[in-house]
Amino acid sequence: MIEHKVVRGIEKMYITNGEKNIEVSLTWGDIDVLKNYAKEVKRPNTCVLLGTGQGGSALVVREVVDKNVDIYTIDEKSGFYKLYNRKDINFISGDYINLEKNWNKPIGLLLIDTEIDLSKEQFLAWEKHLVENAIVLFHDYGFHAPTVVAGCNSLFKDNKNYKVLFVPDSSQERNGITSMYQVRKLGN
Ligand SMILES: C[S@@+](CC[C@H](N)C(=O)[O-])C[C@H]1O[C@@H](n2cnc3c(N)ncnc32)[C@H](O)[C@@H]1O
Repeated sequence: MIEHKVVRGIEKMYITNGEKNIEVSLTWGDIDVLKNYAKEVKRPNTCVLLGTGQGGSALVVREVVDKNVDIYTIDEKSGFYKLYNRKDINFISGDYINLEKNWNKPIGLLLIDTEIDLSKEQFLAWEKHLVENAIVLFHDYGFHAPTVVAGCNSLFKDNKNYKVLFVPDSSQERNGITSMYQVRKLGN
């Protein structure tokens, strides 16, 4: 279950995992974006998250994507999220760039929520695994993360392989609204 609380004027999202409440680094707006695209993803296509953190985003994606679709969430740090002991989410430990070299699964939804400066580099490494019509979401497109803004703008300006679906207003506070830059991969 996804819950919403306002703490000192700041919106915070939580998702329940068994007995625990996990804070999610997504806003309501981000979660609506995920819900919107999640229904498009069908097996054998997969959902891949770059940046597990405490695992909140992966738990949200698991809640909104079809049960038959495999979810992989990748982070170089392991430990805390393994405690979740979820069999329905594949927690992978390692460096994004190294892991990509042996990747062989088609990706229908790619969520990039990495250390901010790395989003562009990681997209370029992983994009070869995107299926036609795949959705790519870049978290943190906003004034708080100018490198994500610059990276997305340069990646998709005049890029005929992708349709830009939504550009967040980067002058806005994140409270509530989405900071997900959204693109769809086009066919050849
Ligand atoms: C903003 S956090 C992700 C937050 C997460 N989506 C959540 O729901 O809590 C970014 C994560 O990227 C990971 N990271 C940064 N560089 C990495 C790399 N080269 N390979 C794998 N993980 C990396 C960090 O360890 C960190 O946990």
